[in-house]
Amino acid sequence: MLNKTEKKMTNPVALITGAARGIGYAIAEHLAKARFDIVINDIIDEESLSNKLSAIEKLGSAVLTCQADISKKSDREKMLTRIKEKFGKINILVNNAGVAPLERKDILEASEESFDRLININLKGPYFLTQSIANWMITLKNETEIFEGAIINITSISATVASPNRGEYCISKAGLSMSSKLWSVRLAEFGIPVYEIRPGIIKTDMTVSVREKYDKLINEGLTLQKRWGLPDDVGKAVASLARRDFPYSTGQVITVDGGLTIERL
Ligand SMILES: NC(=O)c1ccc[n+]([C@@H]2O[C@H](COP(=O)([O-])OP(=O)(O)OC[C@H]3O[C@@H](n4cnc5c(N)ncnc54)[C@H](O)[C@@H]3O)[C@@H](O)[C@H]2O)c1
Repeated sequence: MLNKTEKKMTNPVALITGAARGIGYAIAEHLAKARFDIVINDIIDEESLSNKLSAIEKLGSAVLTCQADISKKSDREKMLTRIKEKFGKINILVNNAGVAPLERKDILEASEESFDRLININLKGPYFLTQSIANWMITLKNETEIFEGAIINITSISATVASPNRGEYCISKAGLSMSSKLWSVRLAEFGIPVYEIRPGIIKTDMTVSVREKYDKLINEGLTLQKRWGLPDDVGKAVASLARRDFPYSTGQVITVDGGLTIERL
């Protein structure tokens, strides 16, 4: 375990969940470039995860990989123990891990199993991970007045845009959006801001199955900026929040959707 002086001297530490690929990996890269030490969490096996380690380490950061299913309490607890052992502190939590339904199904037919799966991974997991990390951040703040922490939730435009062929996804993201508000209210007195980033349609493995559909829609003007969103677009937004470029904006939503949700007539 690091003592108080050692904790102050090292880089700030960021935990990104679901960071083995896609948006999470881009966030890890941008935070490493911003001189954070990085904890890469994902559900995939430790060996595949450690392959991700060297690329981020080359950017100059200390990296810890933690295989954990964020929907499981015991996995979350083990992950926190490992971060405490390696770094002794946490400054940024990015709740990024999330899943789409295994199959898009009309809400007239969709199953309770799929509903439970999405709520557990996309909402309950991040909510209780935030609870544990928030309590740890409060302890760190009490130890050193100069401690700086922040929590960033990756939701989706589906938090407000209704898609009846994946209702459970929309509900999980709407819940995570409320979670951002709740934690921003609760943690304000400790100087810990909480932000929500709402991506639109981002080119990752999650959207492979609907690539042609969205290619067509984007071409027809679905987004004001006529292109797919990229993981880098989200990574840059997260790095900016983590660097405290928005110090007086706790509880706010940053939309990264190329103008998709601008109402038009
Ligand atoms: N791609 C998009 O268009 C889009 C749009 C809006 C929001 N989002 C959100 O952004 C986040 C990242 O999405 P992405 O497109 O990079 O998806 P992705 O499927 O490419 O990556 C998600 C990562 O999370 C990991 N993961 C899944 N379940 C996990 C669990 N229980 N515990 C730990 N890790 C887990 C996966 O293994 C994977 O590496 C998700 O929360 C998603 O809902 C994506």
